[in-house]
Amino acid sequence: GRTGKELPVIPKLELHLHLEGAAPPDLIRALAREKHVDLSGIFDDRGHYAYDSFAAFLRVYEAACTVLQTPDDFARLTRTVLERSAAQGVIYTEAFLSPDFCGQRDVSAWREYLHAIREAAQSAPDIQMRGIVTCIRHFGPDAARETALCAAETAGDFLTGFGIAGDESAGHPRDFAYGFDMAREAGLSLTAHAGEWGGAQSVRDALDHLRVARIGHGVHAINDPALVDRLAEDGITLEVCPGSNVTLGVYPDWRSHPIDKLRAAGVPVTVSTDDPPFFHTTMTHEYQRLSDTFGWDDEIFTDIARTAANAAFCDDATRAALL
Ligand code: ADE
Ligand code: ZN
Repeated sequence: GRTGKELPVIPKLELHLHLEGAAPPDLIRALAREKHVDLSGIFDDRGHYAYDSFAAFLRVYEAACTVLQTPDDFARLTRTVLERSAAQGVIYTEAFLSPDFCGQRDVSAWREYLHAIREAAQSAPDIQMRGIVTCIRHFGPDAARETALCAAETAGDFLTGFGIAGDESAGHPRDFAYGFDMAREAGLSLTAHAGEWGGAQSVRDALDHLRVARIGHGVHAINDPALVDRLAEDGITLEVCPGSNVTLGVYPDWRSHPIDKLRAAGVPVTVSTDDPPFFHTTMTHEYQRLSDTFGWDDEIFTDIARTAANAAFCDDATRAALL
């Protein structure tokens, strides 16, 4: 139960959070020290992750992951991340998990990492978590197939989804369809990063070839009115991460971000942080900026939470408790 802490007015649900991408620099530095790995090159003089482009972001991200080595490292990471999320008033979060960084896609190693992550998640107070295995687009279709097998073999009440992240310019969604088909047959729910760096066509391709229920980002759909209508009519939920988009330069500022227009057009939109320490953001910060920029009020934030609950990759009893 909740003790002592201030109750947030509206509980927050987050559908798009990369577990490794949520690692605070302090944790990564501590692990680097313990393992005698020199990671000084990925931090700036204030101790923050240092990158100046999306490509550099991906390199720094992957370098930080090199010190996340054992199942216990991932348990520590999970505890840290969920403690921070709960402190933001987040009661339910879906975290992207990467067999690429957990035993190099070996299914039996992956089981041990997932077990450690799950135990840590289930002992976290005030917050529930579900895992979405994500493959990494720029690691290629063969790696993605192995990742999908890890996901299919561990599908259940905790590991409920499969997705794809990474460099959207690498390859084509059809190259990854086999892995998504395997995951779907295993009962997993599906999402894909698309329309973050790619245009509206990239979102269409993810829908047509991967048959996903949700899109990670999807913001460039705004440039294609027919696609906006399709998202609204088919109830395709967007996992929108405005602070991530502004920090990475997808949009020059909050004013230019299309989240308010997408919502007004009837697209189911939700709000997430993506990789909070990389973007110097939190869920509270995202909500504050949305309120300041677009005048979003409690009624809208309540609607956003309802949209997230409806699109959550969880069983109906869990969903009912979130609604
Ligand atoms: N992996 C972590 N964050 C990501 C992002 N914003 N886009 C694509 N892949 C990612
Ligand atoms: Zn993401």
